[in-house]
Amino acid sequence: MNILLIGSGGREHALAWKLAQSNQCSSLHVIPGSDAIGMEEKITCHGISMDNATLVEFAVNNKISLVVIGPEAPLVAGLADALRTADIPVFGPSAVAAQLEGSKGFMKDLCAKYNIPTADYARFTNKDAAITYIKEKGAPIVVKADGLAAGKGVIVAEKESEAIAAVKDMLSGNSFGDAGSSVVIEEFLNGEEVSFFALADGKTVLPLTSAQDHKRAFDGDTGPNTGGMGAYSPARDGIWSDELANKVMTDIIEPTVSAMAEEGCPFTGVLYAGLMVKDGKAKLLEYNVRFGDPECQPIMMRLDTDLVDILCACAHGDLSSLKDKINWKTDTAICVVMAAKGYPGEYSKNTDITLPEKKPDGTKIFHAGTKHNESGKWLSTGGRVLGITSLAHDKETARLKSYQVIDSIEWDEGFYRADIGTARG
Ligand code: AMP
Ligand code: GLY
Repeated sequence: MNILLIGSGGREHALAWKLAQSNQCSSLHVIPGSDAIGMEEKITCHGISMDNATLVEFAVNNKISLVVIGPEAPLVAGLADALRTADIPVFGPSAVAAQLEGSKGFMKDLCAKYNIPTADYARFTNKDAAITYIKEKGAPIVVKADGLAAGKGVIVAEKESEAIAAVKDMLSGNSFGDAGSSVVIEEFLNGEEVSFFALADGKTVLPLTSAQDHKRAFDGDTGPNTGGMGAYSPARDGIWSDELANKVMTDIIEPTVSAMAEEGCPFTGVLYAGLMVKDGKAKLLEYNVRFGDPECQPIMMRLDTDLVDILCACAHGDLSSLKDKINWKTDTAICVVMAAKGYPGEYSKNTDITLPEKKPDGTKIFHAGTKHNESGKWLSTGGRVLGITSLAHDKETARLKSYQVIDSIEWDEGFYRADIGTARG
């Protein structure tokens, strides 16, 4: 099979690495991919235009029999629809189904209509009405830009004044443009966050697994929110259990997938539920319509079933054939992110990185933002740059392996959290 993967980050490096391991994959094309992804066996990257028409033409010309879409932006922009119209099997939801992530208001209204447990909320486009609501509810309170805002459109306000400032900023179009022209204001939920992943093919739903990421930039869960500074899978014992996973499937995931079908926008792809867990109960914080980054990196390391089989079954509406057939290593995997100093604020690019020649077994460096120059040196090109991911029979051993590799990476302009996997519980 010729497979096409869309994206270029650490998540896509992990997906590419796992897809290429399948005997069914004869060639894997990645657009745009990265230098590191292109160094993997069977993989060719193409720096071509990312518009839907060009990607469909590429898929047709290269006899692609499965397209896997990594990030949310092309999904929201209708790439899966364009490919399906051309009869190309695709893993990922349609643009209307991607609204589960692309519009916080859409997701909250769906949950309200179908009784899916989530934080109480209201939606506003009018500033004064939003301010009155904030004053009525009091702080802490959470203000969210409706649209995609690269993970930055959520303000967890400790004080009323912060929430009011966020609303003014968003509704004036200053901070997020159109994405902030409508806001969701919701109840603050206390607890510990867990990411839970499930697959859907429009009708059938199957659980994948759990993970936890560390969103704050610095040790001890302090500093600004980031896209994620590290993650491990599965979620830790004290907070997560098979029983809770089953409950999340029956109370949250399954009702959502049937609701989407009932609303005329059946969901196909991976559904990533961001959950707040407290006292053994889970509430939905948000949906994403893609794998998490960096959660995908440890998840791919733990997956013990051919990823091509799984994604094809989803793309062909045949997920029921995989019931009880998706296997996981009982080990724990952990990914520690190395980011450029300054991230998530301003940071320098093109700084030198030297990677070790040797690594312990069961460890992989996934690249999220690097390039390889003519003289064979790695240079940083982004905020989150490397994801050092290790697998071991227990989390502590996996953690130590990742940090051992980090100790052998030379990168003066990089930083990482030293407490990934130990900051909680
Ligand atoms: P979201 O993109 O909706 O997941 O929000 C980003 C982050 O903001 C989440 O991972 C949580 O840490 C936090 N957050 C979002 N909604 C709430 C809420 N209702 N209560 C508490 N924290 C929240
Ligand atoms: N790690 C959080 C996300 O992928 O949205």
